[in-house]
Amino acid sequence: MKHIQTQLAKMSIDEKLHILAGSGFGNNGAARPPMNLKKDVSGVAGYINGVHNEKLDIPATALADGPAGVRIIADSDEATAHYNSTAWPIGSLLASTWDSDLITEVGKAFGEEIRDLGVDFILAPGQDIQRNPLNGRNFEYYSEDPLLTGRSSAAIVRGIQSNGVGATIKHFVANNSETNRQQVNEIITPRSLREIYLRGFQIAIAEGKPWALMTSYNQVNGAYNNARSDLLLSILRDEWHFEGLVMTDWFAGDTDQPGTQVAAGNDMIQPGGDQVFQNLKTAYDNGVLTDEMVDRSVSRILEQVCRTPGYLMQDFAGSVQHKDEHLALVRRAAAEGMVLLKNDQALPAEPRETMAVFGINQVNTYKGGTGSGDVNVSSTATLADGLSSQFDCDSKLLTFYTDYFEQNRVASNGGLGVSNGYTCDEPTIDDDAMTQYANSNDIAVICIGRQAGEGADRANEAGDYLLSDAETTLLQQVATTFHDQQKKVVVVLNVNGVVDTSWADDVDAIVLAYMPGQDGTYAVADILSGKTNPCGKLAQTFPVSYEDVPSASTFPGVDTTDDGAVDTEYYNEGIYVGYRYYTTFNHDVAYPFGFGLSYSNFELSDQRIVADHLSLGQYGNLVLTASVTNTGKVAGKEVAQVYVSAPQGALDKPAIELKSYAKTKLLHPGETQELVFLIPSELLASFDPEHERWLIEAGHYQFFISNSSDVSNTRPLDLNITKEIALMKTTSGALALPDDVSEDSFVTVTQ
Ligand code: BGC
Repeated sequence: MKHIQTQLAKMSIDEKLHILAGSGFGNNGAARPPMNLKKDVSGVAGYINGVHNEKLDIPATALADGPAGVRIIADSDEATAHYNSTAWPIGSLLASTWDSDLITEVGKAFGEEIRDLGVDFILAPGQDIQRNPLNGRNFEYYSEDPLLTGRSSAAIVRGIQSNGVGATIKHFVANNSETNRQQVNEIITPRSLREIYLRGFQIAIAEGKPWALMTSYNQVNGAYNNARSDLLLSILRDEWHFEGLVMTDWFAGDTDQPGTQVAAGNDMIQPGGDQVFQNLKTAYDNGVLTDEMVDRSVSRILEQVCRTPGYLMQDFAGSVQHKDEHLALVRRAAAEGMVLLKNDQALPAEPRETMAVFGINQVNTYKGGTGSGDVNVSSTATLADGLSSQFDCDSKLLTFYTDYFEQNRVASNGGLGVSNGYTCDEPTIDDDAMTQYANSNDIAVICIGRQAGEGADRANEAGDYLLSDAETTLLQQVATTFHDQQKKVVVVLNVNGVVDTSWADDVDAIVLAYMPGQDGTYAVADILSGKTNPCGKLAQTFPVSYEDVPSASTFPGVDTTDDGAVDTEYYNEGIYVGYRYYTTFNHDVAYPFGFGLSYSNFELSDQRIVADHLSLGQYGNLVLTASVTNTGKVAGKEVAQVYVSAPQGALDKPAIELKSYAKTKLLHPGETQELVFLIPSELLASFDPEHERWLIEAGHYQFFISNSSDVSNTRPLDLNITKEIALMKTTSGALALPDDVSEDSFVTVTQ
């Protein structure tokens, strides 16, 4: 800190404002050269300007996307493929591992690449709540639940930062849709913000200590997040003690008023550039920005910059050093996250079985989503590559799909000018050919893929959330023909997020592979062959139909000004997001949050509350234990989840809420492991909007330790809390609803 004060004393006001402004954006979609550039990393998203004068030499530092890997220019060294970074499994798939240690391991390897490639801060992880399945960027995010989101984020941040590079958690807060994301005003009650949308960030900050945070594009309750001092100073700094730097998203909010943004606690404007600098200077000259504010933000930036490899002038390799190990880790992490949704004695498939693989997605495979969450890789293993590495796949069928793809694919720009890929329609197969394929193969696999990305939301339409007509025809044709011959049909979903599964009864098994990263398709084969016993659990609910989603009628907002653009979205469902809604209002779902099958069986026993220190208030906690036994025939892992059912007091409560979870090690048949769950008091508390505090109400609490959010067959543990426990008081008036909106303005969602 003293060191920073000394540096500040050696800087002119212009030099300070240049640090706040960022270096600017070139017309090639990448950052402009910054001040005092000592290393050039092509294709990064931004830089923090350095300073060079007689007394100071602070090098510029580089910021690069994104959540699934380091996104820099794609010039690969084809000979070694060592220049390109690794595309990791998407956030939703990592979260489905429910394994913080594994996510940290991914973070460590990811961070090694960030450092190797000369980047100082990665613009990741993304951790907005998956409020609605149609958000185009859900693939970058973890879950519909704030605890799983926050823990997954903290885990990857710890791994990344163990390499001496910074992570940037984003987008703060409630960037839950892409439609008109730069203007849309999200109307959300303070309680929903606190319990659902902010909580994951709060956990990530407490447990991960990220060096940086990115504010989001959208407005909340009538003001842009990057200009809200209640959010950025009162909550983030005073309540949560965040010590990192805060940056805007690229060209976010009221871009003419960067002074107001910095004054509100948004330290750095990205990507910045000359005009931003000029506007900051005007704000300074006009007194909107005081010296104190400028110094506050510059010191916050420099405190983090001082830790980076760029500032420390460390050498970097300029290429990824441990590519093979990293690809092996992609495969392991992807396999541990994939969710077996259905299995009617179809899987695991025997290696000697001959496999007929259908669907254009087997050759047009998606490693990840598009936009800034994409990664430029040298090559991606397709599903056909993955499956044929372990199975005898019908080569005639593969040739048919390969040829069709080559002749009919259409190059697509996946969004915002940064991603390339292809679209291709689903070819038809005539009935005779289908019969031939059924005659000559033992099992059918249908690959269904969905791409999505930054800048657009998805649609509840055929070909997107729903199967296309051609896919429906294919699925039925394969199912009928193979079932006629008593042969099984498996569907592999290579998707960006939740899709309709109303066709599930027609097939025997469904593997949710999400977007498994580069070479993650080998993990699909590991799951299908049983090399890896599936142990992923859903990090989001699969509803029976899209219409059941509590935000279906409001997403992605309405056009109140009649100018053709969505501008306002009411979060009518309040705290009832995802399983909190379905369980409270008794809605059937297709696959519940936390659900996932295994090739083995597990029994939970000996559930106990072993310590209750809640009376210690803010520092109190609960400790629970349970034993998990593998009662099946093959080794496997199980995730035990602790849900609380809190009493209905002054505050209404969801039927159940996730409060802790743990995954076993690989348990061999007959083996038992005891798991321990710690629930800190603040996690048990609800937000009491009237008194603006966190509160554990008195009454009867039930704890369900279960292997999914369907706790209907689980006997709960009881706990009586005789006196209410008031925890932290929060900032008065923070994030209040706009004056013309009251609690009554929300259409209550109850059915
Ligand atoms: C995205 C951010 C990203 C930034 C820089 C923005 O459009 O919303 O997530 O980090 O661009 O590429």
